Amino acid sequence: MNTPTQSEKDRVVIFDTTLRDGEQCPGATMTHEEKIEVAELLDTMGVDIIEAGFPIASEGDFAAVHEIAQRSKNAVICGLSRASSKDIDRCAEAIKPAKRKRIHTFLSTSPVHMKYKLQKEPHEVYEMVIAQVTRARSHTDDVEWSAEDGTRTEHDFLCRCVEAAINAGATTINIPDTVGYTVPEEYFALFDMVRQRVPNSDKARFSVHCHDDLGMAVANSVAGVRAGARQIECTINGIGERAGNAALEEVVMAMKVRNDVMPFWTGIDSTMLTRASKLVSAVTSFPVQYNKAIVGRNAFAHESGIHQDGMLKHTQTYEIMTPESVGVKQTSLVMGKHSGRHAFVHKLADLGYQLADNQLEDAFGRFKALADKKKQIYDEDIEALVDEEIAHAHDRIKVVSLTVIAGTVGPQSATLALDIDGKQVTTQATGNGPVDAIFKAIRALVPHEAKLELFQVHAVTEGTDAQAEVSVRLSEGGRAVTAKGADPDTLVASAKAYLGALNKLTSRRMKGKSEMEPRIHSTDFG
Ligand code: KIV
Ligand code: ZN
Repeated sequence: MNTPTQSEKDRVVIFDTTLRDGEQCPGATMTHEEKIEVAELLDTMGVDIIEAGFPIASEGDFAAVHEIAQRSKNAVICGLSRASSKDIDRCAEAIKPAKRKRIHTFLSTSPVHMKYKLQKEPHEVYEMVIAQVTRARSHTDDVEWSAEDGTRTEHDFLCRCVEAAINAGATTINIPDTVGYTVPEEYFALFDMVRQRVPNSDKARFSVHCHDDLGMAVANSVAGVRAGARQIECTINGIGERAGNAALEEVVMAMKVRNDVMPFWTGIDSTMLTRASKLVSAVTSFPVQYNKAIVGRNAFAHESGIHQDGMLKHTQTYEIMTPESVGVKQTSLVMGKHSGRHAFVHKLADLGYQLADNQLEDAFGRFKALADKKKQIYDEDIEALVDEEIAHAHDRIKVVSLTVIAGTVGPQSATLALDIDGKQVTTQATGNGPVDAIFKAIRALVPHEAKLELFQVHAVTEGTDAQAEVSVRLSEGGRAVTAKGADPDTLVASAKAYLGALNKLTSRRMKGKSEMEPRIHSTDFG
C-alpha cells in the first residue's frame, strides 16, 4: 500500500487477467458463479483493472463479463476483443454496466504472426490497428491496444503501430511477450526504445504482459516497469496459457520487499494474497506447487535444524517477509465436535471467507459431520470443506451414497446413488480396483464421452484420518475441466471430484460454450 514517501509516478497499476488469460488455459475453466466470486475478491483486494473475459468467445463468457461489470465496485472492468468490429461491439455491450470500463483490443505485429496467422501484409495490419482502436474509442475513452507477439516484432514496425494506436486514441499500450521468449535486459531495452522513439509515447501508459515459458515472466515484468511501464498484466498463481503468466502475488511482493532497488508500489492489499491464491486454486482445481513463491505451502516452512535454530533466534535470519504480510495464518488446531456455530462463523471470517446464509448453513452441517469422523480439525480442513462447498454449490449431479467392496480379491465393486436435478438414481458396477468401479458406475448413470486425463490424490493434513483431496480432469471435444473433491474417505472424495468435473462440463454446455469456441492464441484472424 502507499506510504507518504511514495509518489504517483512510481505507482504501478495491476491488471489482473486470471479470468481471461488464466481461464483460457486447458483445464482451468471456471463456472459463472466462480468467476463472479473471483472477481469480487480481486476487486476487494485492490486490483485496478479486472480483465473479466473475452465476450465474443461464447454466451457464457459474455454473461460473466456483463455480471462482473454490474457488480464491480472499484476496479475498471475490461473485456478482450480481436480486431474486428463485431468483436469490439460485443465487448462494449458486455462491459456496459460497469462504472469504469475498458476495451482491450489486440493484433499481431510480428513477421511470423502476420505472415502465417493473419496472412496480411504489414501495411494492412497497420490500417487495422487504426481501425480497431478508433472503433473501440467510439464506445469508451479507456482503450488498451496490444501488439501481440510484441517481443518478436520488428522495431520500426512496432514503433509505427504504437504511434498510430495512440493517435487513434489508445490510452494504454501493451507490448506482450506472448510466447515467453524475452529476457529481462532485452525487455527493458524494448520499452526504453519504444518510449524514446515514439513521438507521442507520453500520451499513453505502457503495459507489460509476460508468459513464463522460460521461467522469466516476473523478472521480465519488473524489467519493463524499470524501463517506464506502469501497468503489469498478471494472474493469481500465475495461471495462463502454456507455462502461465507472471504471478500477481510475486510481482506485488517483489516490488514491496525490494522497494530499495525497485521503488514502485501498487494498491494491492498483500494480506489478501493467500486467500486469493486458495480461491483460484479451489475453483480451477489447479494445485499450487508446494514450493511456489509467496503462496506455496512451504513458502514459510523452515525444515532444516540450522534454519529452525536461526529462526528461533531472530526471524529475519531466514525470512525476507513475514507470513502475515501475505495473509498466512499460523496453522492451528481449531475446533472439534463441541464447537458451535458462532465459533465456526468466527473461524471462517478469520480465514477470509464470507459465505451467503444458505452456504453457511450447509458448510456448518458438513463441519459437524466431519467433526464426528475426525478428532482434530485444522484450518486446512475447514478450507478444504468450504472450498468444496463453494465449488459444488451449483452442481446438478451430487453423490447421495456410495458403498464400495475392495480388497485383494477382485473384481472390486461400487454401489452408487446420485441425485440428478432432484431425481435419485442408483447402480452397481465392478472394476479393476475401487476407483475404476466408481467411475464406471458414474458413467452408467450419467453417460458421457469425456476422457479422464488426470486423477490425483493428496492429504489435506497429516494423520491417517486426514481428509483426502482428489483432483480429476476430464476432457471433451478438445476442452478440459478440472475439479476437486474432499472427504475423509478417499473413495468418496474421488466420486465427488469426478462428478465435480462432469458438472462443470454440463454447465459449460448449458452456457453455450461449445467446442467451436475461439481460442485466442490459436485463432486465425477472420
Ligand atoms: O499473450 C498475449 O499476447 C495476450 C494478448 C491477448 C494480450 O494474451
Ligand atoms: Zn497472454
